[in-house]
Amino acid sequence: MQRVFSGIQPSGIPTLGNYLGAIRNWIKLQDDHDCIWCVVDLHAITVWQDPAALRQQSLEMAAVLLACGVDPAKHILFLQSGVRAHAQLAWIFNCVARLGWLNRMTQFKDKAGKDRENASSGLYVYPNLMAADIHAYHATRVPVGDDQRQHLELANDIAQKFNHDYGVEFFPNIEPVILGPAARVMSLRDGTKKMSKSDPSDQSRINLNDDADTIALKIRRAKTDPMPLPSEVDGLADRPEARNLVGIYAALTDTDHASVLKEHGGQGFGPFKNALTDLLVEKLAPITAETSRLLSDQGALIDLLRSGAERAAAIADPIVSEAERLVGFVGLRRG
Ligand code: TRP
Repeated sequence: MQRVFSGIQPSGIPTLGNYLGAIRNWIKLQDDHDCIWCVVDLHAITVWQDPAALRQQSLEMAAVLLACGVDPAKHILFLQSGVRAHAQLAWIFNCVARLGWLNRMTQFKDKAGKDRENASSGLYVYPNLMAADIHAYHATRVPVGDDQRQHLELANDIAQKFNHDYGVEFFPNIEPVILGPAARVMSLRDGTKKMSKSDPSDQSRINLNDDADTIALKIRRAKTDPMPLPSEVDGLADRPEARNLVGIYAALTDTDHASVLKEHGGQGFGPFKNALTDLLVEKLAPITAETSRLLSDQGALIDLLRSGAERAAAIADPIVSEAERLVGFVGLRRG
């Protein structure tokens, strides 16, 4: 079985967009892969994080992943800071990756913005840590959104240069698993913008802990146009808001736009929004309930994550020790 690794930032309770775009696809991969799921708190501090908030958000993200169906017994779930191998291998990769490679990373340019001089050095070497996350487990398949493709190419460049410089075939090539068609959920207020936690308007998104009334209100207020739903997919062109709501409905029922329109085409938005609200409540209520249950016993949650970290370290430590030996470190640590 192929080993899958993926990481998600501890940005607190995710949105419906994160769920349909990423998390739900992780759950599906569990059927036929060995999966390692990591909440990447080391990556989070590349930009300022309030310590209490980081702690809370790391646990919230872990709880949501479990509530969505991450299986911590068959697979592994942990927090990145719980396994030292990530930072250890990242240091070696800092010395393998070239400045020229990092200078091409579009995410650094976006995140650092105009004030580059004031960005942390961690933000600059963020992709090296991400490469270490994956290569510390010899993982070969990595589910990510399209925006992470460039980072995976860099991870492959690092592996190749390491293998070449040290004359070994040690780190394997990684294949991205680019996530399915439902991956793009747009803002409820503007169908041309991605649904995002950083949008100032909470009305623009569904959060995985919104209760039924909040969901109903947000869907009722979601931007639409005055026409009824078309009966053909072509009719959704130039109607981004309509396309988005139909897309959400399709993703939640595991069908496509065409089948949703077959059932609801010709309807006004009133009845369609009611149907969508019912569906959202039905799918999200169990996740919300399970998330709060898990968060109500932080001790148990931390124990579960600790056991995940121990199992992760059992895989990563020997791989990183071997990388250290290949580099020429004498190796004073036992075990
Ligand atoms: N950079 C990824 C993101 O922002 C998160 C991440 C960190 C990751 N390490 C990873 C994803 C390793 C895949 C594999 O989405």
